[in-house]
Amino acid sequence: MKTKTAIIGGTGFDQIDSLEVIDRKVVRTPYGDPSGVVINGKLGKKSFVFLPRHGISHSIPPHKVNYRANIWALKDSGVDKVIAFAAVGGIDRSLVPGAIVVPDQLIDYTSDREHTYFDGETGNVTHVDFSFPYSTSFRKKIISAAKKAKVNVVESGCYAATQGPRLETAAEINRLEKDGATIVGMTGMPEAVLARELELEYVCIAIVVNPAAGRGDGEISMEEIRQELTRGAQTSIEILKKL
Ligand code: HPA
Repeated sequence: MKTKTAIIGGTGFDQIDSLEVIDRKVVRTPYGDPSGVVINGKLGKKSFVFLPRHGISHSIPPHKVNYRANIWALKDSGVDKVIAFAAVGGIDRSLVPGAIVVPDQLIDYTSDREHTYFDGETGNVTHVDFSFPYSTSFRKKIISAAKKAKVNVVESGCYAATQGPRLETAAEINRLEKDGATIVGMTGMPEAVLARELELEYVCIAIVVNPAAGRGDGEISMEEIRQELTRGAQTSIEILKKL
């Protein structure tokens, strides 16, 4: 069966320079407008659908992203697999800037986001299974593509999704660590569960761009984040080319 894979570009990944654009489509959804046009393109020989989560000019903050419209637009474009890129802070002290993590678990600390397609309007109450929030089989493919590309990835991790847009306090990070989280970002939810509700195979490639609050020396530097993002995005493209 033919499969179609989407890339949701995160911070630093609003455009993929090496993506050969085939076409751009405006997709309307019952939930409003997605973050941008849906791009069909090629990376090397492989076709991908691309959608920048924060808009092409990076103007939509994490709590304002229309996650329902984005995931709906991808489904509507015939996508069955989603690779979500995410810039994250490293909670676990071994996860220093530059590390790339393929998380296998998440904890949701977000609030006040439209987080389901099943809000009772159809008259049916639906509870999706979310024990394993990321697709196990697709994660394996990503990890083996990383090996082929000779990119070191951390093969598991627990993503804490926070509300943002502010970064966390050092005490909050200690609490997330006690909860079992190893990385922290602001966009992992409800994106992952919406993909599950629409039966898309969803994985996350998380690029560690800073030590989480209280883990580094002093305050979090935006300049350091920007540099790590550029490097991480290039490395991730090598993984995609080997998929
Ligand atoms: N916290 C939350 N989100 C983030 C961070 C962080 O430290 N770094 C990049 N995205």
